[in-house]
Amino acid sequence: MIRLDCVNKIYRVTEPGGTAKRDFHALRDVSLDIENGSIYGIIGRSGAGKSTLIRCVNLLERPSSGRVFINEVEMTALGEAKLRAARRKIGMIFQSFNLLANRTVFGNIAFPLELERWSKQEIKDRVNEIALLVGIDDKLAQYPSQLSGGQKQRVGIARALANRPDLLLSDEATSALDPQTTKSVLRLLRDINEKLGLTVILITHEMDVIKEICDSVAVLDSGEVVEEGSVLKVFTTPLKSVTKELMTSVMQTRLPDSFADLKFTGERGSRETDILLQLSFFGSVAAQPIISDLVRGFDVDVNILAAHIDHIRATPCGTLIIQLSGEDRGGALDYLLDMNLKVEVIGYVARFNDITH
Ligand SMILES: Nc1ncnc2c1ncn2[C@@H]1O[C@H](COP(=O)(O)OP(=O)(O)OP(=O)(O)O)[C@@H](O)[C@H]1O
Ligand SMILES: [Mg+2]
Repeated sequence: MIRLDCVNKIYRVTEPGGTAKRDFHALRDVSLDIENGSIYGIIGRSGAGKSTLIRCVNLLERPSSGRVFINEVEMTALGEAKLRAARRKIGMIFQSFNLLANRTVFGNIAFPLELERWSKQEIKDRVNEIALLVGIDDKLAQYPSQLSGGQKQRVGIARALANRPDLLLSDEATSALDPQTTKSVLRLLRDINEKLGLTVILITHEMDVIKEICDSVAVLDSGEVVEEGSVLKVFTTPLKSVTKELMTSVMQTRLPDSFADLKFTGERGSRETDILLQLSFFGSVAAQPIISDLVRGFDVDVNILAAHIDHIRATPCGTLIIQLSGEDRGGALDYLLDMNLKVEVIGYVARFNDITH
């Protein structure tokens, strides 16, 4: 278990154009519990404090107050020598890869092991083993400048893992990569997490990355954790506007532009109006049977205006915007409200034909 207990970080910053200094509160009372063996995502906008937070985990940045525990060891209580030893069991990867340009791939992966004074043979065996695991065993003699971004990050991952760490910290490790390469690097991280039982703390500003591989997520906003929990929970019931905003790229369902001029009129009881609904579903409740049930069970027409279906890890989830018309639309709405899905009435609109012609 990795535990942050009320961590605060205050930087002393110089006022622009002056010599006066003031305090800048980069982290505020951050408390997190991170299970061993999980992939834990931390997401937030630029400047939210993500890098500061991850650097507080391995104490590259010392918290101004609060405590950090890694498996019962209070990192914040360790002296320099013990801290250095503890840090060796924490791997870190970066957006800019941070590879040594004048060393080959082999030399880069071997570097932390040389610092640890492993024997030549041990280093050779370990580098070969880990290079095979991350899929760069054919690149060992090349220099970083001869590699693609994805290959460079694989070297970064191999170097971070060489020393058999218990914990891997990833600060925007896929942000410099194209979507396809991002996917393959994320898959590699997931593989390593499963094969080695390695705990991963991953920082990103992209919800897609969280959705792809994380088990749990914390949303950081202006140095505060504003939302926290399983990815499924945070994605399907986001509470804070910052989370909803970060999620606009995924799980996004908006009325098509052609419906922008919709006039919302009348009330539920009015005969001339249809009901516009947004249905959000996840897990075992799938969209299609619900729509079929509606049409079969009620005298209604269902028009699907927009749909977005996605997967969070293996769980299907999505949103539909539908228009309900027909005599039984009130009954159909009650039926939907009783189901295990989120139903949001967007509004009551004039008959479909009226608004599309
Ligand atoms: N060494 C420092 N001295 C003073 N202020 C700092 C220092 N490091 C970070 N900050 C400030 O703390 C805030 C959080 O920075 P941090 O780098 O943690 O954000 P971030 O969430 O990682 O952002 P990004 O997504 O852009 O990487 C920023 O406002 C930044 O200017
Ligand atoms: Mg950062």
